[in-house]
Parts: sequence; C-alpha cells; structure tokens
Amino acid sequence: MSNINQRKEYIKNIYSKQWTYKRKQYGVKNFDLELIQKLKNQNKGRILEVGIGDGYPFSSELEKNKFDVYGIDLSPTHVDMVKKTLPNINVKVGDSEDLEFDNNFFDVVFCFRSSWYFPDLIKSISEMLRVVKIDGLVIFDIQNSQNPIHISSVKKRKKLQEENIIKHIILKYVLNVIKIFLRPFKFYYTNWSIFKPIIIEHPSDPNKIVDYLDSKDDITYNFFGVDWINSP
Ligand SMILES: C[S@@+](CC[C@H](N)C(=O)[O-])C[C@H]1O[C@@H](n2cnc3c(N)ncnc32)[C@H](O)[C@@H]1O
Repeated sequence: MSNINQRKEYIKNIYSKQWTYKRKQYGVKNFDLELIQKLKNQNKGRILEVGIGDGYPFSSELEKNKFDVYGIDLSPTHVDMVKKTLPNINVKVGDSEDLEFDNNFFDVVFCFRSSWYFPDLIKSISEMLRVVKIDGLVIFDIQNSQNPIHISSVKKRKKLQEENIIKHIILKYVLNVIKIFLRPFKFYYTNWSIFKPIIIEHPSDPNKIVDYLDSKDDITYNFFGVDWINSP
C-alpha cells in the first residue's frame, strides 16, 4: 500500500475513533470563535465544511444560524456521527482532493484544523476554489512548516524515537499482535513499519501556497497569520 493510501486508511480507521475525544480536550478557543463569527457574518447561503469531523463546533453553529450547511469527510465514522447528531446537515463521505460537487456551487467553503492531514494540499485548495461561486469565500488554516515551535517539536519527537528505539520496536510489535486479535472487531489498523511510520500531519510552507494563489489571476485573496503561541 502506498504511503498516501496508508495515511488515508489510518485517518479512516484510527484517527476518527480518537478525534471526538480530542476535540473536547482542545475545547473551543478564541481563534475558533473568531472564525465562527467570520462565517456567521456571511450571507446565509450554501456553505461547505471540508473535513467536517463530528460537526462541532463550526458546522453545528452555522446550522443553528440557518445556513444551508454541507460537509464532507474522509471518515465514514465521522459522517455517521454528523448524520445522527446534526440531521439538517447534508453530509457525505468524500475526499478533499476530489470534491463531488458542481463548479460554483457554494457561497462559502471552509476547512479548519484539517488541511495538514491532506496528502496534496494544493489539489485540495484548487478543488475548494472550483466549487465556490465567483466572489464567494474560501477560508482555511494551515500548519506552518516555518514555525520554530513546530520545527523544534518535530526534532524532539525524532530524538525521542531514536533514543528509545528498542523500546519503540518492542512496544510496536506487542501492540500489533494485540491488534491482530482485535481485528475481527475492526477496532484497529495494523502498521508494521518501524522505519517508515505513518506520519499523518504534513505542515505546509506558506510561501508555496502564496505562490500557487498568485498563479491564479482570477482570484483575490487575503492572508491572515495567527499567533498560535500566544493566542489563548
Ligand atoms: C482534526 S479533524 C478537524 C475536524 C473539524 N474541522 C474540527 O475543526 O473540529 C480533521 C478531519 O479531517 C478529516 N480528513 C482528513 N483527511 C481528509 C481528506 N483527505 N478529505 C476529507 N477529510 C479528511 C478527518 O477525518 C477529520 O475528521
């Protein structure tokens, strides 16, 4: 299985089982509230969340405010959750890199806290631009590969892995054996590769995104930088 497919399988089968719990832990930050407010200030039209997760806190708030909300997510588990808890949202399984909607269909397309899981972010952005109306709004966040905090955390993670290689190998194999017994229940996805572990988060170089957006002379855009370090 290619690394990209492995990552997608991981997102579908494992990540989705932990996300709702993690979302509650992260809570709703001022940054999220500002984004919600920005979306609420738009005309009440058709709005799409790419990587909708379980629908909270963005799409749920828009649905409450009478927007015509659509969502897609790679994970069927998440899509089922949204169907159950937010039945007014039009949600389906889908891939950010291939949005199954007509051109110029949405007034607003947004994607928060998800873009760093997409194998091809530029393709995903081009899809968001395709399905939004001319003069519509596309809004997304990225994980910045230039951010010193991010760079040092990746270094730390690698160092820890190198220092604990024996422990890491044993733990990984023991876990995989346990997972094989649990497989009939489809709780887990096994990954035997030690030297090429699945890394699901892919931070982006903002300059590359700006270059891409600059190459599209039919759009105008604004760029906001958020201070993740000091932002509460
Ligand atoms: C961190 S969660 C964010 C969910 C939600 N936007 C939020 O802010 O709570 C990332 C979501 O992106 C989804 N995802 C990852 N890769 C995807 C892809 N290629 N296409 C669509 N959704 C994807 C995951 O299944 C997950 O629900």
